[in-house]
Order: sequence, then C-alpha cells, then structure tokens
Amino acid sequence: MIYLDNAATSWPKPPQVALAMQRFLTEVGATPGRSGHRLSIEAGRIVLEAREAIAELFSVRDPLRVAFTANATEALNTVLLGFPVPGEHVLVSGLEHNSVMRPLTELHRRGTDHTVLPHAGDGTLDPDEIRKAVRPGTVLLVLNHGSNVSGRVLPVREAGRIARELGLYVLVDAAQTAGCIPIDLERDGLDFLAFTGHKGLYGPQGTGGFVLSERVDPRHVRPLMTGGTGSRSEHTVHPDFLPDRFEAGTPNSVGLAGLAAGVRFVLEKGVDEIRRHEEMLVARLAAGLADIDGVTLHGMARPGERTCTLSFCMRGIATSDVALRLDEEFAVLARAGLQCAPLAHRTLATFPEGTVRFSPGFFNTSEEMDAAVKAVATLAAAARRSAG
Ligand SMILES: Cc1ncc(COP(=O)(O)O)c(C=O)c1O
Repeated sequence: MIYLDNAATSWPKPPQVALAMQRFLTEVGATPGRSGHRLSIEAGRIVLEAREAIAELFSVRDPLRVAFTANATEALNTVLLGFPVPGEHVLVSGLEHNSVMRPLTELHRRGTDHTVLPHAGDGTLDPDEIRKAVRPGTVLLVLNHGSNVSGRVLPVREAGRIARELGLYVLVDAAQTAGCIPIDLERDGLDFLAFTGHKGLYGPQGTGGFVLSERVDPRHVRPLMTGGTGSRSEHTVHPDFLPDRFEAGTPNSVGLAGLAAGVRFVLEKGVDEIRRHEEMLVARLAAGLADIDGVTLHGMARPGERTCTLSFCMRGIATSDVALRLDEEFAVLARAGLQCAPLAHRTLATFPEGTVRFSPGFFNTSEEMDAAVKAVATLAAAARRSAG
C-alpha cells in the first residue's frame, strides 16, 4: 500500500508518538493543572513539554503564548470570530480552506466583511495586491501558508511586512506547512499562527492550536469557550491570561503527549532535512506525471515555493473514479474532489470537478513515487484506449 494522503493527516507516525501516548495512558492518566498530586503534576509537565516544543519550532520566546485547541479549525475560528469586530474588514488569500472561509461567512452575517485577494491563474499571489485591497476598517490579513490543493506556499514574510506597514494584523494558517517549511513568528512578522497537530507535526488527530505574537494583547481576542481552567477558580469570570484564556476544560492530554513526541521528532530530524526529502519526492512525482499524455497538473509551483502536495486531473476519467481505481487496483491512496477548499479550486479554475491530490510525506520513498506514476500512466493509457 502507498499512502499519499499526508495533507489530510500524516501516516505513519514516528513510533515514539504511540509510545508517548501509551505511557500517558498507562503511567500518568491524570488531569493537568488541576489537582496538586504527583500524577497531575506529571500530566502538567507533559503538556508544558508540548508547549515548549511548539514554541521552539516556531521560535516563540514565551511558550505560554502557545494555546492548544482540538485542531487547526478551532484555532482559526478562535482568531477569526474573536478578533475583528462588527464593521471591521478582513483580507484573505484566494487559496483558503473552508476552515477559514466558513468562519468568515459566519462573520459576514455578524457584520464583518472580507475581500478575497486576486491571484494569477496558477495560484501565485502578488503581495502588492494587499495595498490595493486595503480600505478603512481593514484590520486583519489571513493567509494560507501552504495550499492543501496545489501545495503552493504563499510569500507570508513579504505579505506580512506589507500588512504591518499598513497597520494590519496577520493570521497565517500553517496547517499544511508546520513541520515541513521553516516558520519563525517574529522574523516572518506574523501575529497569529494556527497549526494542526496531526499533519506535519506527526501528532494524533484531535490536537492543534495557535500562537499569538507579543504584539497581540490576548484580552483583544474573545475566547470561543469559557469554563474550568484550574486557575482563579474563585471567579466566575474567565481568566484573561495565557494560555488559560483559550484553554477551557480538560485538555486532550494524551494527544498532547503524542504531539510533544511528534514535534520532538521534527526538531531532531530538522525541518530542512524533512523539506529536502519531501522536495525530492514531489519533484519526482511532478516530473513523472507531467510526462503522461492526458494528465494535467494544476497550480504547480516552482521548487522552494511548494510543499509536498500536488493536484492533477486526467482526461476522460472523473477525479473520484481516478482515486477509487488507484486505491482498488494499485493500492495507491489519494484524495479526490475539492479537499474542503472550494475557493482554492475556483482560483485554480478546477471548480467544481476538483482534482486528484497526491500528498506524500517524509516516510514515503522515491520507489513509491515511481509506482504511483506508473499506476496513473496505466489508468491514462486505458482512458485513451476507451476514448478510441
Ligand atoms: C490549509 C488547511 N487549513 C486548515 C485545515 C484544518 O485542519 P484540521 O482538520 O486539523 O482542523 C486543513 C486540513 O485539512 C488544511 O489543509
């Protein structure tokens, strides 16, 4: 079996992830930050370890500025629904996932408007478009760091610089890039960074979070939820300090134990080494697919400007049939359709059919890329024959 669906969730995970989760369940098990006993203290230490690992990965000085959520979706919702106020305005890239576009649609209903920045047909974004689209009341720029459809990496540092010059805050969705593209919160000029734990950070599903830069006053972001935090229990008013402001209720401690191990794996391997291997895989895949008569790659960016994800269509076969046949006949696991990103597909002119998406990961090999290309070539040859 060849798993090429790492943009949905990474698999396999490094063995230490399952071991850390097993250790948590069998030897620790308690609630962090609540009771004062030894197991609770150990659980708190493990959650702090996860926080510190994330802070190290994104060069964040204060780990308490990392807030954990169930996934990137909850992190993005927290910032989008909690930061702008009615009457304000948001700029957004044309490559966004529905975890940004749906909260923005909800926000529109509540009186906060947004504008989608124009892109070139291949998905390129000229950061100068930000200057043209800004208007009185614009407070936030939202950028998908890496497209989950085409793998294109947006120029967040340059866009961030322009946005700051214009007095905007910058929210980056790093769901597809955390762990495989270097991110430095301060150097890149980002204010909010949303990440998910179960893709390039190799943690389990049900983990994620966001980081707030030191420029952001947490009191200016309303939390999605309030409740028990184990702190200031004498008050019914939710704490306004970090990370408690955004972490109501018992956390997914077992998941965070796994996430800590996943991020440690990334830090030990090094983002650059992970990226080198993934760039080799995607280059091989792209070259092989580009040679097949009847296959069209969509939105493919140049080396250095892409993640390990690519999208293609095949003449004469619907994308869902391609993915089904790749699975059933060749044991190649891909994802077809709109990948929860209809806006990105509109930008790339692949809406409404969508694409077939291959997203290899660090544990894939070049032999697997060749086998996947061969499988696509076999399907394309069959489609050409049946077209006559
Ligand atoms: C670009 C992008 N943003 C956000 C998300 C949402 O991540 P999660 O499902 O972990 O909330 C995804 C996941 O597919 C994604 O690819």
